[in-house]
Amino acid sequence: MDVKANAGAVLSEAEVAERVEALISQMSLEEKVGQLTQVGGVAFVPGPKPEEVIRKGGAGSVLWLNDTKQFNALQKIAVEESPCKIPLLFALDVIHGYRTIFPVPLAMASSWDPSVAERAQTVAAKEARAAGLHWTFGPMLDIARDARWGRIVEGAGEDPFLGAAMATAQVRGFQGPTLGAPDRVVACAKHFAGYGAADGGRDYDPVYLPEGQLRNVYFPPFEAAVRAGVGTFMSAYMDLNDVPASGNRFLLRDVLRGEWGFGGFVVSDAFAVASLVTQGFARDGRDAAFRALRAGLDMDMASNTYAENLAGLVEDGTLKPDDVDAAVRLILAIKVRMGLFEQPYVDESKLAQIVALPEHRKEARLAAQRSMVLLRNEGHLLPLPRTLENVAVIGPLADSKEATEGSWMVFGHTPAAVTVLEGIRAKLPGARVEYAPGPEIRRDIASWMDFLDSEARKAPQTPEEAQAAFQAALATARSADVVVMALGEAADMAGEAASRASLDLPGRQEELLKAVVALGKPVVLVLLNGRPLSIGWAAENVPAILEAWEPGSEGGHAVADILFGDINPGGKLPITFPRKGSHAPLYYARNLTHSPEGSPMYNPRYWDGLPTALFPFGFGLSYTTFSITNLKVAAPQVKVGNSVTVTADVTNTGSVVGDEVVQLYIHQKAGSDSRPMRELKGFERVTLRPGEKKTVSFLLEPAELGYWSTGAGKWVQEAEAFDVWVGADSTATLHADLVVVR
Ligand code: NOJ
Repeated sequence: MDVKANAGAVLSEAEVAERVEALISQMSLEEKVGQLTQVGGVAFVPGPKPEEVIRKGGAGSVLWLNDTKQFNALQKIAVEESPCKIPLLFALDVIHGYRTIFPVPLAMASSWDPSVAERAQTVAAKEARAAGLHWTFGPMLDIARDARWGRIVEGAGEDPFLGAAMATAQVRGFQGPTLGAPDRVVACAKHFAGYGAADGGRDYDPVYLPEGQLRNVYFPPFEAAVRAGVGTFMSAYMDLNDVPASGNRFLLRDVLRGEWGFGGFVVSDAFAVASLVTQGFARDGRDAAFRALRAGLDMDMASNTYAENLAGLVEDGTLKPDDVDAAVRLILAIKVRMGLFEQPYVDESKLAQIVALPEHRKEARLAAQRSMVLLRNEGHLLPLPRTLENVAVIGPLADSKEATEGSWMVFGHTPAAVTVLEGIRAKLPGARVEYAPGPEIRRDIASWMDFLDSEARKAPQTPEEAQAAFQAALATARSADVVVMALGEAADMAGEAASRASLDLPGRQEELLKAVVALGKPVVLVLLNGRPLSIGWAAENVPAILEAWEPGSEGGHAVADILFGDINPGGKLPITFPRKGSHAPLYYARNLTHSPEGSPMYNPRYWDGLPTALFPFGFGLSYTTFSITNLKVAAPQVKVGNSVTVTADVTNTGSVVGDEVVQLYIHQKAGSDSRPMRELKGFERVTLRPGEKKTVSFLLEPAELGYWSTGAGKWVQEAEAFDVWVGADSTATLHADLVVVR
């Protein structure tokens, strides 16, 4: 296969347009519709086999394949045998790594360090591109405030400001400085928009969000992705305010193109064009194709609805030829920019060498270390001494490669993570490290995605086997000096179609935890999970808790690095931990009410348990301590349209080097709308030696001081009074006043 060395020289807009027009002028209507069609390389996708479709020019892109040789073989058909010889875009979900798996996106957001996400996605892009992929379906930018929703694991959590920062970083990581950069892929901002607000946290259920919520909370990460130059968008599945996102002109045309000036193309979520019929919106496939295209959806992912209907709609005059051409132009422009016409093939000899690069594993370990959040450390149980001789590692996830790599495994990938058990054994080569999994955990209702997860496909334990495993775990714990419990959720318990009504530790894990704690040994709980869990009992009774999330290929090493003090944890929660699943959605940026907490009018919101945060947004401990002082707002008054600087000093008051994430929150006290009682508007993660002090500076710009007002029906920045807080989490008390004036 001829693989040219240099693809993707940066072309001007005019050069791209000229090449696109030259192609369009030669293409038949069928071939144009082909460019708008993404075919799936797996058995469950309807329609003829990809080879036949590609030969006729009937496909612009292929998804759900992960075989370098097959990519080249299909590409050869496209560029040698199809009528206009247009190369294919190969696409796959590379969400947090291709072969080297990074922490899940929710974990990377816990680093509060966008460079972690950017470097991770740079590595993911490099490996994926070496495999022959051009396009990833990420980043997932859905704000999620309901911990029951399974896909919370794929995003950056509950906050639009943090979410936008992570969005920008991920787009840069995937795509590099410009589309077509070598070793990078095209990114896809998904799922546009509102998917994270599914009713009841039930995946795919309808979403009702007023425009103010959409614009102030759910849109910012998507707009940030557009500003970062993201090449593609994916429309969401669900109904947004009764209009499916994939047929939603307000989203796909008015906002995305009209307001934000997005110049790339929009792909549907899988089968979502056909689902417009299933959802009771379109009459039939023809109606679905018509309405999706008119709404601004350019490529049909895997449903074949465009392929079956668009040509007919143009031929009978229902659609204008230009409706189709406009979408084709956008897709061809990405292919031209990516350099695919110069270099359609992938060098098959490179993948093995690239995925084995030691620096990729190093980056994955660093990302995992920076993503973990220390939730409790009573009596300074952590870090543990390296001199320990007798450790028990207990729990169904302690040696699970699947749970360590987490949700969204790449098709065909065999998990190869270092588990918590392996990480601890490697850290303590001379010690006795005994392991017992305890009873297994599994979903009550299997997932249709379990075909990707070998652990989930194992035969279930009988109750007798589970009981024997419980007793064996207790015996192992009894014989140790320190017990590390690795509990949480299996890989298939968070992710797509993995919502749950409860946030409890699944199965008999809490029962086992209680029994082990009752032995009176020092116990460290390491959580491996893809969502906040209601661990109220543990938060009061287990002295040390480390939230490790689903930490990726190097996860076990990173856990051991932290448990034994080689690394001081500095991550912070990007999401509130509720006390119970029934308290969801629970998030910090709520509006005040007539009965605010602390006021004489206060009434508890539920009488059967306060729905306060178990751990608040932005929270996380360290092996050292910090003080944040000397908050200064540069000017007590600032004019509408101007910016103001806020500074504070942060000092490491403990005895080891450590990281603090300094966070800035504001509250607009009155206005044409009620505003959230707190909103994050700045953060910085700093590393300080013992005794070291640093001044952290934030710029509050008009964009941060304004909002989309329901009362005014537009963006406003109002001359009003603001509270400003700076601190170590969303409950910060260090306060200053700011007044915006005309
Ligand atoms: C469905 C998921 O919702 C989406 O996130 C994913 O990218 C596509 N399937 C393709 O696998």
